[in-house]
Order: sequence, then structure tokens, then C-alpha cells
Amino acid sequence: MTVTIVGSQLGDEGKGRVVDLYGAAADVVARYQGGDNAGHTVVEGGNEYKLSLVPSGVVRGKVGVLGNGCVVNPDTLFDEIDTLRERGLDPDVRLARRAHVILPYHRVLDGIEEDVKSDSDRKVGTTGRGIGPTYEDKAGRRGIRVGDLLDSELLREKLEYVVPQKRALAEKVYGVSMSEAIGGSSDESDGVETGEAFDVDALHEQYERYGERLKEENMTVEAGEFLSSRLDAGDEVIFEGAQGTLIDIDHGNYPYVTSSNPTAGGAATGTGLSPGVIGDGDIIGIVKAYLTRVGSGPLPTELGGVVGDTPDYDEQGAGENEDLAEYIREEGGEYGTVTGRPRRVAWLDMPMLRHAARASGFTGLAVNHIDVLAGLDEVKVGYSYDVDGEEIFTIPATTERWGRCEPNFRSFDGWPEVDWSEVADEGYDAIPENAQTYLEYISDELDAPIYAVGIGPSREDTVVLEHPFE
Ligand code: IMP
Repeated sequence: MTVTIVGSQLGDEGKGRVVDLYGAAADVVARYQGGDNAGHTVVEGGNEYKLSLVPSGVVRGKVGVLGNGCVVNPDTLFDEIDTLRERGLDPDVRLARRAHVILPYHRVLDGIEEDVKSDSDRKVGTTGRGIGPTYEDKAGRRGIRVGDLLDSELLREKLEYVVPQKRALAEKVYGVSMSEAIGGSSDESDGVETGEAFDVDALHEQYERYGERLKEENMTVEAGEFLSSRLDAGDEVIFEGAQGTLIDIDHGNYPYVTSSNPTAGGAATGTGLSPGVIGDGDIIGIVKAYLTRVGSGPLPTELGGVVGDTPDYDEQGAGENEDLAEYIREEGGEYGTVTGRPRRVAWLDMPMLRHAARASGFTGLAVNHIDVLAGLDEVKVGYSYDVDGEEIFTIPATTERWGRCEPNFRSFDGWPEVDWSEVADEGYDAIPENAQTYLEYISDELDAPIYAVGIGPSREDTVVLEHPFE
């Protein structure tokens, strides 16, 4: 049996916690897209683990799989594995041989392109982890895959082909002087000095070593085969989507997106299992009770923006309610897990959620952070948009049109601050009545039952109504 976890908004909905919650009954947790741009914070027994690549289920002793749809920075991978080991865990992580490898030049180029774009207000606000450039190389059929790291000669051949192109791109297209871009500075976090990012010999030496370690630790698999044999053996498997629907490369608000498919279809293409296998299990949409966004792009229900972050869309409401945004940001700890950036804060956006529910086919919902809104007199929901003289109920396909959308709000009475640990013990009926009304409204609109409600930061702070594996 499988369960797929999908972010229904802009990422940071609290997926890691839900994966961890349902992961208790799972044997395998697989990621199907993205790379170390994803930040998961998992709180377990008072310990906090921050992971950006390794599936969060490994904290609970599950087998973690990085599927073929992922892009893998081996430096981050081994760093996270080593840190977990130092903290007494024994992480079992398998890597698809078809997954693509993030190399140092991808990170450098990610930064250069963002710099260039910022001159014309086209900056995406990426995490700078080289995600986009790596997927570009995948689509351009010049990428280096995990399987290539296992064969030293093949790896060299591929590097000899691609690295001069990357160097020329940086120098000749972006006009970057190599001595500036790769000269003096070194970035230890890359494992390879930035100064060596475009050097075939240095890259080969480093990535061959990574390949050796992958072999020694027997970490690589044919993901589809591995997962289907585990399913055949009766294992329970969770597919963990990173990011969210609105930053999906196809279904998100392009170009302010990541370069992969967080929506449920990605679980099939990114693991090597069929859509039938994915659709046979539950597909749970994770919803934050309000909305946050890291990076640029429209946000029609925005309460307050991080000034200057998104000049084109500041007019959409940013600043009007900055105090309330600030309050929610602090209460909810709304700072990027990967980058530490303050997140933009907005009211719940139903056109966005309707679009997400259609794209992924949610069979259940987990609504998080309901406690963060406690104590407010009124909680609002963007119900529909007015744009170009008409009322619409889902998100328009173009970012420009979305940027012109004015939300129509629906107002709900607020709910009081209560002892949430008591609510966790007593269950759904102990959730304040007005919060229940709010939850039931979301469930009715999306035609999917509520499976879980997040009422605090740790796994214990969850009211569970349905358990997909039981
Ligand atoms: P990239 O994935 O680093 O290329 O960034 C592309 C866009 O996706 C940027 O707006 C990022 O802020 C956003 N993004 C990437 N990963 C996450 C995430 O895990 N949570 C929220 N936003 C993300």
C-alpha cells in the first residue's frame, strides 16, 4: 500500500511532520523530486532534525529512497547521513541510479543567473542550490547521473564533454571572468572549492570518491524495481513530495517555480512506479491554515510582504497588514528552513487549493498550524478572485493575470488560544468550535476529508482522524 504526500500551496506546509506521523506505520519513505532545496524540520523526542535532502522518515528508522526524479548533491547527502550517525541514528538511504547529480558548477550558475535576472526584476529567488541548472542538464541530455559516479572512466568522459560548455556559458554568455567566479573564493559547503567548480580534474577526483562511497555503502538502486519489490513483499511505502503545487514547473506559477513536479503525477515519473500504483493509495494534500511564500511572485491574499522582495507584486496587498503578517510570521516561525529568509504571509487562498486538489486528486487533507491563528478576532479566506471584469474560482495559467487578481474574502470568527496539548490528548472534538467550522469549510470546498490537524510543532501535536495505513 502507498500514501503520497503533496504540498498544496507554495511549500513549507509542514509535509515533513505528516510524513513522519504516518511514517510510523511505513517501512519505506521515498522522495520523488527536488533536491537539497527542500527543508524539513522533524522534531522527535525533544530532538530537532533539520534535513534538506534525506527523506525525513529515516529519523524514525525507515528506509529512505531518493527516486530518479530527484537531483542529488552528494556533498549534502553524506553530510546529512554523517550528522545523523553522529547523533546516534543509523540512516538507511538508497539512491536511484537514474537520479541526476548536482555539481558545483550548477550552484555557481544558479547564482549567476539569479544575479543577471535581478538586474531586470526577473529574479526567481531560488535557494541557490543548483536545482534549476541540474534539471536543465537533465532535459538537455548532458546531465551526470548517480549511476555515472560508479564508473570512473565514464564519469571523466562526461565531465570532459560538459564542463567546458559550462565554463564557456559562464564566461562568454554571462561575461563572468573566471578569475572572479572561480578564483580566490572557496565554499567549503560544496565539498569542492568554488575555485574548482569548472575544473575537470578536481571534479573527477571528488565525484569519483563519492561514487566509491556509494559503492562501499551499497546505496544505489534501480528505484522502480526496488520499490515495487518492497511493495510486493507487503511493505507500506510513503512518497514524500518536496515543495508544493504552486511551485511545480508545470502546474505552478511559472517562472516563479522550482524545476520539478511536486504534484502527485511526479510520484509516478519520479519513482519508476505506474500511475496506477500511486492512484491505488491515498494522496494526501498538506495545507497550511494560512499561506506563506519564500521568494518572488504574486500572492493575492498577502497580508504583508518582505519589502523589496517582489517589487512587481508589492501592490497586491503587501504592507497593508504588516503587523498581522509579522505576528503570524513570529507565531508560526515562518523563516525558511534552508535559507533562513523571512516568509511572506497571506490568508488562505481557495482558488489555489482548488487547483491543487484537481492536479493531484487529494483523497484526504492534513491541515497544519491551526494553533498559530488562535487568538485572532477574525480569520479570512480568499474565496474567489476578480480579474479583468470577471469572477474566477481557480488560479489563472499566467503569472501576469494572477498578479492582477483581487481576492474576494470570506470571513470566519476567530478561535481562542487553548491548551493544545490537551486538545492533542482529547481529539478532534476538543478543537475550538470556530476552528472546526474553518476546517470543515476547507474540506467541503476541496471535497476531501480531513485526515489530520496540526496544532503545534511536534509530531505529538497532531489530531489524527484517519490513518491511511490502518
Ligand atoms: P529552486 O528550487 O532553488 O530553484 O527555487 C525555485 C523557487 O522555489 C524559489 O521561489 C524558491 O524559494 C522555491 N522553493 C524551493 N524549494 C522550496 C521549499 O522547500 N519550500 C518553499 N519554497 C521553495
